[in-house]
Amino acid sequence: MEKKANISVLIPQDEVEAKIRELAEQISRDHEGETLHLICILKGGAYFMTELSKYMTIPVTVGFMSLSSYGSGTESSGIVKITKDLDDNIEGRHVMVVEDIIDTGNTLSYLIDMLKTRKPASVELCTLLNKPERRVKEVQVDYYGFIVPDKFIVGYGLDWDQKYRNLPYIGAVDFE
Ligand code: IMP
Ligand code: MG
Repeated sequence: MEKKANISVLIPQDEVEAKIRELAEQISRDHEGETLHLICILKGGAYFMTELSKYMTIPVTVGFMSLSSYGSGTESSGIVKITKDLDDNIEGRHVMVVEDIIDTGNTLSYLIDMLKTRKPASVELCTLLNKPERRVKEVQVDYYGFIVPDKFIVGYGLDWDQKYRNLPYIGAVDFE
């Protein structure tokens, strides 16, 4: 049998759900009169984006993108490859990137600069989790759910070796 990781609950399910509803209401108020194009960063952002968009009261459209970041081991390097690009043209549209976590900032600083070259009307970033202690590249985070400590986080889209994305709470892996 495969060894199971020890995971402790960092943010319980009801708190995550309440925060996502709060974020959705805030974003809807701030974008009154606009149609927002949500760009989900796969795979981690999918859980957060579907939940977030359900509670938004302005018109939204959705798109998906997949990125891979080359680095040594677990550290992202800032060299980012687009493995699945958007299907839609974003020129002139109000865009919001929806991500699971901003850690070093390498991935998103690259992505935001790249999206800007496609001339959207605006680009914002909304992340469920923010780990500012680990930031290497500056990224403007317009909306976030929670600040998390420098621990290895799983659940609500975040994986450890592709597992645990489906946990309905935010957990931290205890490495003994
Ligand atoms: P970056 O370091 O900000 O470029 O983050 C790159 C990606 O690493 C994030 O989008 C996550 O998918 C992943 N990541 C960063 N921190 C964690 C973590 O604590 N748990 C699981 N995945 C993480
Ligand atoms: Mg990710």
